Amino acid sequence: MNNFIFENATKTYFGRGCVKEYLANALSGYGDNVMLAYGSGSIKKNGIYDEVMEVLNAAGKNVIEFFGIMSNPTYEKVLEGAALIKENGVDFILGVGGGSVMDCCKAVSMAAVSKDDVWDKYWAKMSVIDFETLPLGVIVTVAGTGSEMNGGAVITNEKYKVKTGRDYPKCNPKFAMLDPEYTYSVSVDQMVSGGFDILSHIMETYFSEPDEDNVSDDIAEALMRSVIRNLREAIKNPKDYTARSNLMWASTMAENGIIKLGKKMDFEAHQIEHQLGAYSNCNHGCGLAVISLVYYQHIYSYGLYKFVRFARNVWNIQAEGKTEDELARSGIEAISDFIKEIGLPTTLQELGITDKDILKQVANSCNISAGSYKKTTHQEILKILEECY
Ligand code: NZQ
Ligand code: ZN
Repeated sequence: MNNFIFENATKTYFGRGCVKEYLANALSGYGDNVMLAYGSGSIKKNGIYDEVMEVLNAAGKNVIEFFGIMSNPTYEKVLEGAALIKENGVDFILGVGGGSVMDCCKAVSMAAVSKDDVWDKYWAKMSVIDFETLPLGVIVTVAGTGSEMNGGAVITNEKYKVKTGRDYPKCNPKFAMLDPEYTYSVSVDQMVSGGFDILSHIMETYFSEPDEDNVSDDIAEALMRSVIRNLREAIKNPKDYTARSNLMWASTMAENGIIKLGKKMDFEAHQIEHQLGAYSNCNHGCGLAVISLVYYQHIYSYGLYKFVRFARNVWNIQAEGKTEDELARSGIEAISDFIKEIGLPTTLQELGITDKDILKQVANSCNISAGSYKKTTHQEILKILEECY
């Protein structure tokens, strides 16, 4: 295993009723001006807004609302949130939503304090954050990104047509609250998209060196089996508490750093999806479903051992009568069947991308992963995208 140092600064509260029970206490060490940040209004329809407001009002907090955070949050929205904080002397940011709300809030927590253009200094370039960001807490309403327990924030800069993520430990939320019942109202389409995002985070970590026996890969296999099983259960019954709980915690576990320990990590499929998102504003999990399959067909032979292991240990495919190559391809076929089974798109056109001309620009603007079994080229990414079309 490769060397590592591990710390995760986010205190995590999990389970039914955790917001009602712990939110007031979690906020008690901070000032009274709380910025409540949320998306396009789902929390008003499903009752989460009322539940959170009740706690904030009872705790005597002065609430400043920052809403309309869009999926694939933009840098412009980040600056809007930062300005609101400066105008109102906000002491604490409370983000309620999915990855988009959480990521936007992390960037806002920097932009509200920094004197610099944070996009330029921390996203375009990667500088060290030498100041304290504004404290942030998050309440998760949809499983998928795992943003709640890391410092990662994926932001889209529309001016430069770049969507990219950075992970700064200083941006880790002070606390994260995960009530699986909050995800009951997520549409099946979004739930499966989030489910595939979880699976993708695990696969992007698993399909990388080292190949020698290591704890991270063992945990990753157990998590992948759990996501596949529980997604099937949650599709059958969206109010299955056990299934929703497992999906929610698997989502956090995939991105809280634990399965990444000692691993190189690939994440090229994510790099491609992010740039596709910058050009088309496509849904993150759906974009990954389209790209991953073709991407893995391109790289599996360079990491044959791991793809064989994946077929056997995750999909329980029997080895008898198959060459290693056939076995590895059966594992990739199993992902393909699963994508179809849960109703995710399989082509860019199904994803709503009809302008083939953008593909070259998408390909040329992708970051190249250093941790992949095969170092891809921009030309090869274009080929992958064309095959996805
Ligand atoms: O806008 P709201 O009202 O929040 O509605 C959202 C949105 O329409 C809705 N939703 C959320 N909770 C709900 C609900 N609808 C009904 N009931 C609920 N309880 O779901 C829709 C999607 O939400 P969004 O936050 O956009 O989705 P997701 O969580 O997939 O986040 C996507 C963003 O996160 C980034 C993605 O690139 C994308 O920008 N990622 C962040 C990562 C990180 N920070 O670690 C890692 C990921 O790989 C990813 O890149
Ligand atoms: Zn993702």
